[in-house]
Amino acid sequence: MFDTSKSILQKLDAAIFNKHQVEVFVKRDDLIHSVVSGNKWRKLKYSIAQAIHQKCDGIFTFGGAFSNHLVATAAACQNAGIKSIGFVRGNELSSESNDTLKRCAEYGMQLVFISREEYALRNDKVYVDELKNEYPLYYCVPEGGSNYFGVIGCQEIWTEIDTQFEAVFVAQGTTTTSCGLLAGLPPSTKLHVVPVLKGFESIETMKSTLRWVLMDESFVDQLVDNVLVHSDFHFGGYGKVTSELVEFIQMCSKHFNLPLDPVYTSKAFFALYQNIISGKLNGQKILFLHTGGLQGAVSYEKKLGVQFYV
Ligand SMILES: Cc1ncc(COP(=O)(O)O)c(C=O)c1O
Repeated sequence: MFDTSKSILQKLDAAIFNKHQVEVFVKRDDLIHSVVSGNKWRKLKYSIAQAIHQKCDGIFTFGGAFSNHLVATAAACQNAGIKSIGFVRGNELSSESNDTLKRCAEYGMQLVFISREEYALRNDKVYVDELKNEYPLYYCVPEGGSNYFGVIGCQEIWTEIDTQFEAVFVAQGTTTTSCGLLAGLPPSTKLHVVPVLKGFESIETMKSTLRWVLMDESFVDQLVDNVLVHSDFHFGGYGKVTSELVEFIQMCSKHFNLPLDPVYTSKAFFALYQNIISGKLNGQKILFLHTGGLQGAVSYEKKLGVQFYV
């Protein structure tokens, strides 16, 4: 449905990279589609196939007010000719509250606004079973597309990469994308994850995500030995944006022609950049996965009164 061949490998040039003898490539998954971009198509692809296979009317899923996942699900379902329902955190919101929710509604998603207390139950089996009973013709996809199919879809990125890298950097939320990368990680490559949530338990969460897919405890332990966690790049926490981060996004746009979003990819790329400057990656060939998120950047530009891209 969406063409992943648009996701090119972009080589970045900078004097600082030459100084540290690093080669930096970006896998531009943000170019897959303007809305179903980055990791979104990879995470949703097999859930949508499954919904169609099970002859469901559509998909129901969960997300916050600015959720990239929610709007991507709405657009991908419309494209696939099936319906979508989004359970949104915050019963004070409406489809007019922001651009993300407006676009969800435009793509035909039925929005159901629920209280924060109810939203907190989104992964609770009893609560989800109740929703499944209420919407028997809808296939349930967890928040962030975080299920078995999401991991498998992200693992497929490797089929599009034929270069050997010493390091791969990726932003981390639910861990679905990083676990997909880890499941297919070539030998002698290290996976560097950058959680955007403050105090996030990266390794423990990755282990529990990988257990659904691999069902082999010792193999999971062996895999996570190849993960390095960079937990100091959340800039104050999820969705928090500082002036230093804004300047970094503007610099990347200007010097590398690389648009980064303020919630995920800019923080992960900042971590990569700092690690290069501090000499920790000297001599390495590095891959950065651009996981998209650009649709949400417009709301941040409006909120902060800045322009990210030049
Ligand atoms: C743009 C973007 N990058 C990275 C992530 C993190 O991916 P994951 O939740 O699979 O760890 C997300 C969240 O889904 C996202 O929207």
